[in-house]
Amino acid sequence: MITEKNKKTFILKKLEDWNQVIKFMIPKLKPGMIIALSGPLGAGKTTFVQHLAKALGVKSTPRSPTFSLLRTYKVRAIHELPLRRLLHVDAYRIEHDHDLMPLNLEEELAEPGTIMALEWPENVKKWLTRQPNKKIFLKISIDKKGNRFISYSVIPAKAGI
Ligand SMILES: Nc1ncnc2c1ncn2[C@@H]1O[C@H](COP(=O)(O)OP(=O)(O)OP(=O)(O)O)[C@@H](O)[C@H]1O
Ligand SMILES: [Mg+2]
Repeated sequence: MITEKNKKTFILKKLEDWNQVIKFMIPKLKPGMIIALSGPLGAGKTTFVQHLAKALGVKSTPRSPTFSLLRTYKVRAIHELPLRRLLHVDAYRIEHDHDLMPLNLEEELAEPGTIMALEWPENVKKWLTRQPNKKIFLKISIDKKGNRFISYSVIPAKAGI
């Protein structure tokens, strides 16, 4: 069940406003966590991953991994967090959960200090529900003026979307 303590909403008017979301989330990140990023095409899912990577000291800028499905980034130990790796998965082109199998995501996530950002979690709902890991959901919507509304919620292990 989602309690109010585990929910928060942000309104973003410009690109730099993502930093508010990142600042709020960084202290909450723990190894094994999955950050599920929902929202329409162009909502800002990859942009969130770019801001997160920067905050975690990743040297390169994540691009959409649409063609490779998975990209792995080394997190630099520039902070107190016990994090070492950021996995970026884009399930946009995935039609069946079993298409994820070759990626060995469970094993990848079990590597020490690993967290995962997942775009298009709706496409791999069954897989996601099976994961015993704690999940953070970010749902992004945009209004006509281009303002982004971000709803943050924490879902307990073994729960789906
Ligand atoms: N808060 C913001 N303010 C202004 N522009 C933004 C903001 N967030 C993202 N954008 C812009 O929106 C565009 C699309 O962003 P992005 O590629 O991250 O979307 P996406 O949700 O990953 O899309 P897709 O579904 O295609 O993967 C980019 O040009 C990005 O700079
Ligand atoms: Mg994207």
